[in-house]
Amino acid sequence: MIADDRRTASADLVVSDLTVEFRAKGYVLRPLNGLSVNASDGQLVALLGPSGCGKTTLLSCLAGLLTPTSGQITFAGREVTKLSGHELTDYRRRTVGVVFQAFNLVRSLTARENVMAPLLLTGVGRREASRRAIELLDMVGLCDRIKHRPGELSGGQQQRVAIARALAWEPPLLLADEPTAHLDHIQVESVLRLLRDIAAPGRLVVLSTHDSRVSRITDNVVELAPDRLPPEAPPRVAEFAAGELIFSQGDPSDFVYVIEAGEVEIYRPDEHGVERTLAVLRAGDYFGELGPALGLPRNSSARARTAVALVAYDVGTFRRKYASRLAQHAPAPASGAAGAS
Ligand SMILES: Nc1ncnc2c1ncn2[C@@H]1O[C@H](COP(=O)(O)OP(=O)(O)O)[C@@H](O)[C@H]1O
Ligand SMILES: [Mg+2]
Repeated sequence: MIADDRRTASADLVVSDLTVEFRAKGYVLRPLNGLSVNASDGQLVALLGPSGCGKTTLLSCLAGLLTPTSGQITFAGREVTKLSGHELTDYRRRTVGVVFQAFNLVRSLTARENVMAPLLLTGVGRREASRRAIELLDMVGLCDRIKHRPGELSGGQQQRVAIARALAWEPPLLLADEPTAHLDHIQVESVLRLLRDIAAPGRLVVLSTHDSRVSRITDNVVELAPDRLPPEAPPRVAEFAAGELIFSQGDPSDFVYVIEAGEVEIYRPDEHGVERTLAVLRAGDYFGELGPALGLPRNSSARARTAVALVAYDVGTFRRKYASRLAQHAPAPASGAAGAS
């Protein structure tokens, strides 16, 4: 029905060295850090990992909805990360179909009308849109549900309507964000079988999941939990200008900090209220580990003496990644350990 040149190149995906950073409250959060992925035309690929590991972030980049901080995405020979303006709009609309985690169907419309919507929006006539919607609903096994509204359908059926809608423009790339998350196991199976069938020559299907059982039916699994370690928060890199406060005595304790560059001063008022420097810490030192470990507020304050780059870890991650290394290499605790907690 839709004649264009999207099918001339095969639906291969190459993601190279993809990094996404979010900046919030002085922190840089980096859910994707140098990720590379290859997937081939016709495959069903799972992005696997616990909540917060960057699945939705990666799918948003693949959908052309989020611009990565660095790295490239190439799909069917086109560099997605270079598209802008009309080309990007066209890519989002015609090359990618997206199925969201919460089905996102319009509650007041029937299954058929939900599938028709994207077609009508782009100027397809009502009669043709309706014919096409019925065909798609038939394909996802819902030909007897075309007049039902979302509230009258099971979760699995709603998800299949959402898949039919995402396929309206016959996109060569179908993205499904945790499509089985809210379903019971029978519904999970029907949705996975459908996605398995949809992944056929000319189309690549990428789904995200935290359920490792899903990987049994996929061709390719991309594990987003690094090194298969227990789930851990990605490191947060924080930057402070000279003189800037990192935390104050009495603040709730959140992170343990490792200094990447610059100097940090740890200080506390003495009994006369005069500020006393307890330690000056440098690259490789850490500070602030006791407060979060014991659930106590900060017992001293920390300030950047020069421009400073810090990596902030939650206590568990810090212990796994860093404290054991310090213990091996330095018999005495780093200078920071005596200072701020
Ligand atoms: N727009 C944003 N701004 C700041 N942080 C974000 C944003 N989107 C996602 N994050 C953070 O990035 C990390 C990865 O999120 P996400 O990709 O949604 O993970 P998943 O889908 O695997 O659960 C999380 O820590 C999340 O809080
Ligand atoms: Mg998500």
